[in-house]
Amino acid sequence: LIEGPLVGKHILVTSGPTHEPIDPVRYIANRSSGAQGTAIAVALRDLGAQVSFVTGPADVPPPQGVTVIRVETAREMKAAVEAALPADAAVFAAAVADWRVSSESGSKIKKEKGTLPSLSFTENPDILATVSQMSTGRPRLVVGFAAETDNVVAHATAKRLRKGCDWIVANDVSPATGIMGGTENAVVLISDAGTDVWPRMSKAEVARQLAHKIADRLSAAFAV
Ligand code: C5P
Repeated sequence: LIEGPLVGKHILVTSGPTHEPIDPVRYIANRSSGAQGTAIAVALRDLGAQVSFVTGPADVPPPQGVTVIRVETAREMKAAVEAALPADAAVFAAAVADWRVSSESGSKIKKEKGTLPSLSFTENPDILATVSQMSTGRPRLVVGFAAETDNVVAHATAKRLRKGCDWIVANDVSPATGIMGGTENAVVLISDAGTDVWPRMSKAEVARQLAHKIADRLSAAFAV
């Protein structure tokens, strides 16, 4: 028996890091355990949503009862997101690598005495911005994340406008907070209605409160 305010809604969630290969054995990546994205997928599922969970190589296992799509790179994540649309809402919790190595080596780069490899980079597609700015088929609610280490609210407010998403969930990931890889989070929800500072709580509780807000928004007639 499935019941809850999100029954009949399809929600896309991205989670985890992306890995951008340098050669067959090396990669660059962002730090991301996937804990917050996984908790959000669980909370949305528990309110009855049908969840498509697009995840990079995360530390925590993906939840039961959602459609799991595993990817490695940002480009794969973008393709998986586009294939999973349409959705009523989309939550972009993944820590996508901003850059990939321009020319991935097909064979392992050898260590040679006296020479160092040099890498050049290419910008990855911005999945959140792409979906936020879709002219047709855009999810009614697009939620981005902003991991910042300073001026959290100012940077996240600018990011919301630049990307074109509806909400930004901003958090301070400077090492002293212990948030990255930890079980707690302290977030600020930024929307067109303003800035809402949430107290520090578990990532599961952040996820539950966010899922309830998403349910409220999707059930409001014609609210965007
Ligand atoms: O620009 P920045 O990476 O700080 O933005 C963070 C937000 O954008 C997150 O929601 C993240 O999932 C999303 N993002 C994305 N594709 C990228 C980079 C970030 O979807 N290439």
